[in-house]
Amino acid sequence: MHNRLLDIKNLSVHFHLPEGIARAVDGVSFDLDAGETIGLVGESGCGKSVTALSILGLIPSPPGRIEAGQVIFNGQDLLDFDDEGLRKIRGRDIAMIFQEPMTSLNPVLPIGRQVAEPLMVHQGLGKSAAFEQALKWLEFVRIPAAAKRLKDYPHQLSGGMRQRVMIAMAMVCGPRLLIADEPTTALDVTIQAQILSLMNRLKEELKMSMLLITHDLGVVAQMAARVVVMYAGQVVEAANVTDLFDHPFHPYTRGLLKSMPRTAGRSAGRSGRLSEIPGTVPPLTDVITGCKFAERCAHAFDLCRRQSPELIHIRDDHSARCWLKEHPRYRRQDHV
Ligand SMILES: Nc1ncnc2c1ncn2[C@@H]1O[C@H](COP(=O)(O)OP(=O)(O)OP(=O)(O)O)[C@@H](O)[C@H]1O
Ligand SMILES: [Mg+2]
Repeated sequence: MHNRLLDIKNLSVHFHLPEGIARAVDGVSFDLDAGETIGLVGESGCGKSVTALSILGLIPSPPGRIEAGQVIFNGQDLLDFDDEGLRKIRGRDIAMIFQEPMTSLNPVLPIGRQVAEPLMVHQGLGKSAAFEQALKWLEFVRIPAAAKRLKDYPHQLSGGMRQRVMIAMAMVCGPRLLIADEPTTALDVTIQAQILSLMNRLKEELKMSMLLITHDLGVVAQMAARVVVMYAGQVVEAANVTDLFDHPFHPYTRGLLKSMPRTAGRSAGRSGRLSEIPGTVPPLTDVITGCKFAERCAHAFDLCRRQSPELIHIRDDHSARCWLKEHPRYRRQDHV
């Protein structure tokens, strides 16, 4: 029996720009069980961050607008919540870690204060109790000499240390869901490995769910149980991690996997460049009949250009938005 925590249904988010309507998120659906980690992957600009920001009601509007869909968290549609309701959810039930800590850490507040603040706001702790907890968390995320560091400002810390402070801030209230948007992309490989193992440990100990957004399939392999692949605002493939790596179906996913460097444990595609897939993502303002990937796809046939594919069931919990299954060659079991 699944214990579903998050269910995103048919989410569409558009940006109304002078050059047209950018369909940044175009009918995205996926779900997440309690305690599960999902990896959300795809090239730059495919709508990963916009999906994450929609969950927390953080889409800048204008120009952004949630056009359709539901974001069911713990049985309630977050899209129905007003600002006040969302503020209560943020930090307490759902926390987010951003790629660049300096954009979310306040440069003029000491780090101890920043970690203590959510406890005072959400849990009504007094100042000294909150600071005591904050210190515990800074020690837990292995900030050396944490007690002495409480009064430090963000600029006095290294990138890796700032990321640890961000994680401590995200975790203090014991959220049920952590959204981590490229949490380690800005860090060098050794620090990245330390932060990922820290996040894994926290997730296990706190039985938290995680939506992990990354370019890096190596990180996904290490952290996630299931993977959702996005392309141009749509989910193009979803599967459990083993099945996706062993039997990718969508030509886009196969390209992503091929562009992973061979060296084990190395971060793949840090630049987000995909040498194995020619061409670029079409402008999101283009209205495309047919598959959005067809133009770059070596296997596209006439149906792909005529009609947009739905997510098609491949096997078990594996689905792909691709017409290849309908291709006569696939039916003869020797597709591609
Ligand atoms: N505030 C905004 N105004 C206009 N367009 C926006 C805004 N935010 C995002 N977009 C557009 O929405 C699309 C999806 O952006 P998003 O940030 O979700 O991509 P992403 O998959 O997170 O990429 P990256 O891997 O580079 O972080 C992009 O084309 C982007 O230009
Ligand atoms: Mg992003």
